[in-house]
Amino acid sequence: MYDFMPTLTDKPELYRDLLSALDGLTAGERDPIATMANAAALIWQWLPDLNWAGFYRLVDGELVLGPFQGKAACIRIALGAGVCGTAAAARRTQVVADVHAFPGHIACDAASRSELVVPLIAGAGENGRLLGVLDLDSPTPARFDEEDARGCEALAALLSARLG
Ligand code: SME
Repeated sequence: MYDFMPTLTDKPELYRDLLSALDGLTAGERDPIATMANAAALIWQWLPDLNWAGFYRLVDGELVLGPFQGKAACIRIALGAGVCGTAAAARRTQVVADVHAFPGHIACDAASRSELVVPLIAGAGENGRLLGVLDLDSPTPARFDEEDARGCEALAALLSARLG
């Protein structure tokens, strides 16, 4: 059994500890679904105030639902559509304080009020290969800030290296 437990610390420390736990949990595993499944479970356990945490994978030019925690979600998202498709198409993290104000937001869970989506890119620079996105939803407006964005980008960088 894996028994990683978060401690109550400040946010940068929480993300450092989470990154370290994710590193230990996924090291040496080559199956991408197993790695994403455990990553979703770990993020869900460690980060407070989420109603969805998981992955969409880039498959044949569209985003397809991957391992996650939370309510059942929409299965396919076109590049450029919604918050996930925007993050994937732009290859940039999206921090959305109010999902209702985001044009084209895709409401999978009506409880979601704010969202953070980080692209997973294997390799550096413009030639990096888009693998998918890490998507976090919260029932609290403006739940995610720049520290969450940087923390989740570090998680995404580690996962991208493992998954790519
Ligand atoms: N809200 C997302 C869709 C995915 S669900 O939140 C799990 C979006 O607008 O892309």
